[in-house]
Amino acid sequence: MKEECHHQQRRLLMNKLFNTPAAYVILFLLSYTLGYLSAPSTPSPPSRTITVFHQSPNSPQELSNFRVTSRCADPLPSRLVRETVLGRIFNGTSPYDDFPPPYVGDLLRNNRIKGWGSYGAVFEHLIQEVKPRIIIEVGTFLGASALHMAELTRKVGLETQILCVDDFRGWPGFRDRLFKDIKMVNGDVLLLYQFLQNVIHKNATDTVLPVPFSTGSALEKLCEWGVFGDLIEVDAGHDFNSAWADINRAHRILRPGGVMFGHDYFTAADNRGVRRAVNLFARINGFGIETDGQHWVIRSS
Ligand SMILES: *[C@@H]1O[C@H](CO)[C@@H](O)[C@H](O)[C@H]1NC(C)=O
Ligand SMILES: *[C@@H]1O[C@H](CO)[C@@H](O)[C@H](O)[C@H]1NC(C)=O
Repeated sequence: MKEECHHQQRRLLMNKLFNTPAAYVILFLLSYTLGYLSAPSTPSPPSRTITVFHQSPNSPQELSNFRVTSRCADPLPSRLVRETVLGRIFNGTSPYDDFPPPYVGDLLRNNRIKGWGSYGAVFEHLIQEVKPRIIIEVGTFLGASALHMAELTRKVGLETQILCVDDFRGWPGFRDRLFKDIKMVNGDVLLLYQFLQNVIHKNATDTVLPVPFSTGSALEKLCEWGVFGDLIEVDAGHDFNSAWADINRAHRILRPGGVMFGHDYFTAADNRGVRRAVNLFARINGFGIETDGQHWVIRSS
């Protein structure tokens, strides 16, 4: 292999020599010869090698390195999902039981909801079309779109479970401006508590369950447990790396025939990477991308 490489390099070099003006050839030959003469008799291997990729970065072969191929457990029946999540994450006790604990009661607002694009028509369109038994939301914050979806599924007469994957930490400094009122206790921001309070306020505790971990670890576990979604909304970190990881992990637990969608395909935030991640994901897997308002939509089949 190495020998072949050397030969090729040498051939390339020779081609170059014959194609360059004579002055350069002479100069080059001179230094080449001098180098040769001063080199030790047993040539040591080159200390530095340069590998040139001849494929364009967009060739199918190269993109296939990014394909996620690991498989999840066989899908759990939808009716077992709530019980499974309650058992695995909350030791069988609903997080809404005995809420609020005394030490946070006075720190919460009765209803504190703020979302972005949480009332877009896409939610109603997809819920009517898919009639989901299980919705997985990746990125929940205060629960605006989850609670909107809960209301829509109720209207359509569905018995849907909505799993809300979020670490409920917001992001560093999120309390600086719009969310000054979200209290912090010993460095613990009360987003999970305020989310639970919002769900209780909207009477949606039978429908909506938090999965309060990072999107990476939570989506890995759902995959391992066979918890699949008929409808998955991806709306967590908007930088390329976060969006890319979330989309790939979410797609693994999308039920065949299901639909995955997310916000900020067109908004200013797309520059941070959502659109790049969605486009790359679709291209690698051969999916089409639809848009609905500011949202992207990808169908599993
Ligand atoms: C889980 O719940 C059982 C009772 O259902 C209890 O005995 C056990 O201590 C709980 N475990 C934890 C870690 O809370
Ligand atoms: C929740 O249910 C209670 C009684 O069951 C009702 O009074 C209240 O208006 C409901 N709240 C919402 C937001 O639907």
